[in-house]
Amino acid sequence: FQPKVLAGQQVVVTAGPTFEALDPIRGITNHSSGKMGFAIARAAREAGAEVTLVAGPVHLPTPRGVARIDVQSAREMLEASQGAAQSASVFIATAAVADWRPASQSEQKIKKDGSGQVPVLHFVENPDILQSIAQGERARAGKLFCVGFAAESENLVAHAKAKRERKGIPLLVGNIGPLTFGQDHNSLLLVDAHGVRELPRAPKLALARELVTEIAARLPPGRA
Ligand code: C5P
Repeated sequence: FQPKVLAGQQVVVTAGPTFEALDPIRGITNHSSGKMGFAIARAAREAGAEVTLVAGPVHLPTPRGVARIDVQSAREMLEASQGAAQSASVFIATAAVADWRPASQSEQKIKKDGSGQVPVLHFVENPDILQSIAQGERARAGKLFCVGFAAESENLVAHAKAKRERKGIPLLVGNIGPLTFGQDHNSLLLVDAHGVRELPRAPKLALARELVTEIAARLPPGRA
């Protein structure tokens, strides 16, 4: 039984990787499984929130009672997230968004021409979804509580603190290494203005429930 600590709240969660197409067949992506984000969407729903899950390409069932929007690229994820966040009170960015996308996409499959020449890829930077929503009107007016995630391979505490400030968000959650792509367990580091707290290794759903409780405790009273 979960107490309904998010009753009356609208929560948007991004999850999974993005897929940045090169041509109709190929593209660039990463190892994010989406499990942590899907667990958070489920936990938020169980806590009474109305939940929209903006999901990159993953192989996971939609948690019961959660509205899901499937997207591929970072730009599609940005558009879907901005739309859903317009009326939301909590935005949780767990997605592993590709930092860069190929500068152009070929409409047809890029072919080997037999000469041994290899294609050269040029990249452009993708929009930062979390940062743009955290800097938007709703968040700045205190109506949208934004939570970010960080997966780092080293210096997690320092990077997590710096990232929280750079993105301008009240709460940043670090994945404590080793990187746990696809696994069912994780441990998390919560970084807010007051300091750092660790949620020790546990199943992702248990951590998601703890995180939901932590978020609920930080929401301004009577906002629902
Ligand atoms: O800067 P970095 O990618 O490490 O930040 C990670 C956090 O920012 C995560 O919450 C991730 O979902 C979010 N993010 C985003 N859009 C991007 C890059 C990261 O929303 N283009």
